Amino acid sequence: MSRAAVLRGLGAVVPPRVVTNDELAQRLDTSDAWIRSRTGIAQRHVSAPGTATSDLAVDAGARALKAADRDHVDLVVVATTTPDHPCPATAPTVASRLGLGTVAAYDIAAVCTGFLYGLSTATAAIVSGMAESVLVIGAETYSSILNPNDRTTSVIFGDGAGAVVLTAGDRDEPGAVLEVDLGSDGTLAELIMIPAGGSRQRLSGLPVSPDDTYFRMDGKRVFRSAVERMEGAARAVLERTGWTVDSVDRFVGHQANVRILATVAEQLGVPRDRVVVNLDKVGNTSAASIPLALADAANSGGLAAGERVLLAAFGGGVTWGASALVWPDISVF
Ligand code: UT7
Repeated sequence: MSRAAVLRGLGAVVPPRVVTNDELAQRLDTSDAWIRSRTGIAQRHVSAPGTATSDLAVDAGARALKAADRDHVDLVVVATTTPDHPCPATAPTVASRLGLGTVAAYDIAAVCTGFLYGLSTATAAIVSGMAESVLVIGAETYSSILNPNDRTTSVIFGDGAGAVVLTAGDRDEPGAVLEVDLGSDGTLAELIMIPAGGSRQRLSGLPVSPDDTYFRMDGKRVFRSAVERMEGAARAVLERTGWTVDSVDRFVGHQANVRILATVAEQLGVPRDRVVVNLDKVGNTSAASIPLALADAANSGGLAAGERVLLAAFGGGVTWGASALVWPDISVF
């Protein structure tokens, strides 16, 4: 017996409003053809006015708890780039609104790698014995931080939330988180950033430019780093699990760009038909991306119990990570 964190339930939610590429092209100098060919995205979901990240997180969390048939966990981790407020963290609000009482709850800020960072801390808490059960939620309302006039970011990101319940079990069980490999490179922090709103800008004594209050990204440089780092982390995880590339049934990468997913898969040697893609429907949902992709695949017959799943992500910080598990026979709501 070897103690492990085991996936017991998965929940996912996107807000009902769909924004198509054509709708964006009505107000921005862009086109459906450009967005589809450069990213693979056809539409994204956007929250209604008044909806915040915790609202989506509570919905996804409740679904994951129901899927796992649980009404208690020892720890709630919310990975998000778009907390309800700069202070305090969003996780305690989510925990109490879910009826989980006074459990430990904290946020993870690793941008698009947030879900894998959350999975890692949850796994560590369970394997160490600090917790028996953890709810990990990736939740984002990027529509709150996108510059509506910036075509380079507005066409890419969408809102949504995904959540998993992990509980203590055995490493040999399907659903056990087998490995997590994480990394960061702070020398590239400026590649993905909201320049204003933190201590650096607030204590600068300088006036705030409105553009600096929005999310910005150097897409080309991020693209190159994402390919390199997702591949490297995936290889590290494969080496530690002892899995061959041929034995990977599903590659579920952060849904940033279909060209990134295709390039990483090709460099790893994973056949294209094993690459899970749902960004056409939801865009890049950052920390929510991997659980949303897992839920979509599981619900559409693209992911079955017993299959070997390789996860990889890259995001602001910059940060990256990968993980591996055998897909368990669980409910997905
Ligand atoms: O989730 C966190 C991690 N994020 C990522 O992994 C994102 C990684 N980066 C990307 O996915 C891609 O770099 C983008 C999709 C963001 C951009 O694609 P690209 O192929 O790298 O395009 P580019 O930035 O090199 O721009 C090519 C051209 C430029 O025009 P010029 O300079 O060639 O005349 C841009 O101004 O496309 C222009 N462009 C657009 N045109 C129409 C940029 N955005 C748009 C747009 N519509 N929305």
